[in-house]
Amino acid sequence: MSDTSADEGRVSESEIAVHWGEEGYVRPPASFVAQANLTDPSIRERMRLENFPDYFAECAELLTWDRRWDELLDTSHAPFFRWYVGGRLNASANCVDRHLATRRNQAALHFVPEPEDEPMQHVTFQELYVRVNELAAYLRDEVGVQAGDRVTIHMPMVPDLPIAMLACARLGAIHSVVFAGFSGKACADRMVDSESRVLITMDAYYRSGQLLDHKEKADVAVAEAQAGGQAVGRVLVFQRYPGRYESHAPLEEGRDVLMGPALKAYRGRRVEPVPMPAEAPLFLMYTSGSTGKPKGAQHGIGGYLAYAAWTTKTIQDLHPEDVYWCMADIGWITGHSYIVYGPLALGAATTLYEGTPTYPDAGRPWRIAEALGVNIFHTSPTAIRSLRKAGGGHPEHYGIHFKHMTTVGEPIEPDVWKWYHEVVGKGEAVIVDTWWQTETGGFLCSTVPALDPMKPGSTGPAVPGIHPVIFDEDGQEIPRGSGRAGNICIANPWPGMFQTIWKDPARFVATYFAKYNRDPDSHDWRDWPYMAGDGAMQAADGYYRILGRIDDVINVAGHRLGTKELESAALTVPDVAEAAVVAARDPIKGVVPEIFVALHPGREGGPDLERRVSEAIAKEISPIARPRRVWVVPDLPKTRSGKIMRRILTAIANNSPDVGDVTTLSNPEVVDAIRSQHAAP
Ligand code: WT7
Repeated sequence: MSDTSADEGRVSESEIAVHWGEEGYVRPPASFVAQANLTDPSIRERMRLENFPDYFAECAELLTWDRRWDELLDTSHAPFFRWYVGGRLNASANCVDRHLATRRNQAALHFVPEPEDEPMQHVTFQELYVRVNELAAYLRDEVGVQAGDRVTIHMPMVPDLPIAMLACARLGAIHSVVFAGFSGKACADRMVDSESRVLITMDAYYRSGQLLDHKEKADVAVAEAQAGGQAVGRVLVFQRYPGRYESHAPLEEGRDVLMGPALKAYRGRRVEPVPMPAEAPLFLMYTSGSTGKPKGAQHGIGGYLAYAAWTTKTIQDLHPEDVYWCMADIGWITGHSYIVYGPLALGAATTLYEGTPTYPDAGRPWRIAEALGVNIFHTSPTAIRSLRKAGGGHPEHYGIHFKHMTTVGEPIEPDVWKWYHEVVGKGEAVIVDTWWQTETGGFLCSTVPALDPMKPGSTGPAVPGIHPVIFDEDGQEIPRGSGRAGNICIANPWPGMFQTIWKDPARFVATYFAKYNRDPDSHDWRDWPYMAGDGAMQAADGYYRILGRIDDVINVAGHRLGTKELESAALTVPDVAEAAVVAARDPIKGVVPEIFVALHPGREGGPDLERRVSEAIAKEISPIARPRRVWVVPDLPKTRSGKIMRRILTAIANNSPDVGDVTTLSNPEVVDAIRSQHAAP
């Protein structure tokens, strides 16, 4: 919070959050309980804080270790906690090799192309093993990738994406996957920060009926990385339609390699998985924070994989016999933990869908689920809202039967929850509303589906072993179950927790721990509660309700955007003198950004300028970051000391009748001007 406190009048997402009433309980069907993985009601008793950290051995027992750990948790560098110290393992061996004995011939990946006439592909564990090995051999012997090197992967939802991740993990290399929808520039920023000299990409992919050229983004990424001081010597290009489609972006001799032909020479090659220390990094996942620069959340191999596997088993209730589909993108943490690592570590098949859920119509997810026989379905409130708006695609017309459904990424309104439960789940499925973050590696709050009743609009109690506490601004604990809002923290470390921010340990401590730490020299974990950056309240029954971000982050459709990143993108338009991004409520996406810009003297506003601001944001960051509206205003409301009063802009963007006190402004007259502009159709 320290880097945002200067921003007077800041209004967070959690302050505009929808406050709905407490709902009644919905019980899980007996058929679900009868088959569930976790039905032992003593679990929370066993995993109470007094027993910390020993109970977290249970997560690690799900994995295969080359060497067992000596120490479960080392706190001597708190808050840089180290899990399963002395242990050695390989994530690729845990997700692939160890399943061959019993599941060689079973599906590991189901790939669903967006074009509906293109057949699905099913990759067995044996084929996954072969392809991961061949690519690992290529990376090691041709590109010189070694343990600890960073490899950036900018790929759409195709089998080669998890294969590339697992190939890196096999070598002990650290992957940094960048969401395919991010621009070449955003990819470059992440390559520069992580010092990646290798980029793995794809020539093209389908999105909403269009074959998008993706190779051109790689060219931008390499050029921009070069300009930022990072040389990228190799670009490995997978092809969506080898021999049938060629990207119009030419291949650069000596740098770009088409992987189809290149891998021919590696056919049949095998690479021994490198037994890595448990605390070595597995991957970086960049996420937005309060400053303009995305931060690389660093996750370690042993702790992360253990926690992803354990929560997939207990909260997702995944058995290897299930047909599981998480409709997220691997380019986000949800995809890392609950498309790739969690399911594959358990030897279950996972589904990759290339395209847009509502393409060509809202019935598409149900046709996919019906065709595959999906029984566990995992998605976000935004996807649920947009499917419902599009008429829902009539789930009742399809032979779909989910035993379990997940919602993740944003608060879900009870009304939307009930539609999901009754119409999509046909009243037969349990729902888990899982609250967590890029930094946390896995779920923090959720009902345990066979043990806890569901309550629409509440995420539920904490996951067993996780002990939340809500603090007020002054560091006082808000009484448990009081229904009063505060900053939610986790009292104890847990294995899935990120290890640090890549190359910025000071920011790790400052952002997540400093506010509620009482002794910076302490090596006791009790002195280091983790501050999540969300507002939350706990009802009398112990269930939590998450209100939204308390910092300068907007969570749009489950994608995290830093307001400062959007503002600096807007400032690349030369006419723009100042910009302020605020969170506005939206019926589909929950929350969306609106941007207010003031121009340099003599510059003209109008549709063209608005379009250029919006384009600049799409180009610098991604089309997903496009503001709902660009407002060109005469001036931004400021205090006498020159600070932008976002509180006023947030009120206007949310059509709130009361903008609050304007007497401290140096330019109170702009408030009415902006308000009438906003009210005009
Ligand atoms: C932020 C984290 C975790 C995977 C997707 C997003 C919000 C997440 C919920 C939920 C209410 C939620 C929080 C959190 N959030 N899940 N079930 N109910 N809010 O990961 O990009 O790191 O964003 O998403 O505000 O801090 P992320």
